[in-house]
Amino acid sequence: MLRSDPLKITIDGIETEVEKETTILQLAKKLGIEIPTLCHHDAISTYGACRVCTVEVGIPRSGGGKRTRMVTACNYPIRDNGLNINTKSERVLAVRKMILELLLARCPGVKRIQDMAKEYEITESRFPIENPEEECILCGLCTRVCQEIIGKSAISLVGRGFERKVLTPFDEPSEDCIACGACAYVCPTGAIKIVQEDGKLTIKNWKTSRELAKCLECGEYVGSEAVLQYIKERVSLPEDIFKLCEKCRRKKLQKELITTGK
Ligand code: SF4
Ligand code: FES
Repeated sequence: MLRSDPLKITIDGIETEVEKETTILQLAKKLGIEIPTLCHHDAISTYGACRVCTVEVGIPRSGGGKRTRMVTACNYPIRDNGLNINTKSERVLAVRKMILELLLARCPGVKRIQDMAKEYEITESRFPIENPEEECILCGLCTRVCQEIIGKSAISLVGRGFERKVLTPFDEPSEDCIACGACAYVCPTGAIKIVQEDGKLTIKNWKTSRELAKCLECGEYVGSEAVLQYIKERVSLPEDIFKLCEKCRRKKLQKELITTGK
């Protein structure tokens, strides 16, 4: 494939060259320019849900001059020469503050949002709080990690407006969910709760429990049976890998090395 010439653009007054299709966020990271993000993860497709990464872009008009647009840096691909990006203009800061106030009103108890808001000198939101217990910003990262990385579709965003939620099909325990916990790992607000009790791992939000497997040597839990089974079906690795915890596996390997010398 032919590579096109790099594009000449300006970001926060810095003139630079960039490969076409690079996102503003990728470029900013490369140059050490900080743009706040909540719903972005490098390994997962972008959706532009939280909007805290909003920046201002001056786009050249064909007849001369520029038109200005507010865009989300995480999913805006740079495609034109002469773009003038501003990540900290007064307009950007004003929009970001309003977005953070809206997020704070939606999830008033979420520490990460509180901290972000504080950085913009916001301690209280002027918007009404619907549910003080709400922790989900509906960014969909959990649904995308499940689909794109794990290869399952255990959860999805359903409903519209105030009714919008992340749920399992029919809000019933999910047959697809293997309790890998990837959803909780990527959730930016800690909205997904996992408990480990009575030999089971339960993802409370999805009302789904899976048996935990024990290490054959030490009896420590090594993860959900369903996850181990799922991996076993996809990779060809020795059985031991799935029956021992990391510590015991390492011990076994060391022992083999000493006794066989290989
Ligand atoms: S549960 Fe977390 S990851 Fe999923 S949509 Fe809500 S905030 Fe995003
Ligand atoms: S991080 Fe860009 S929209 Fe959320």
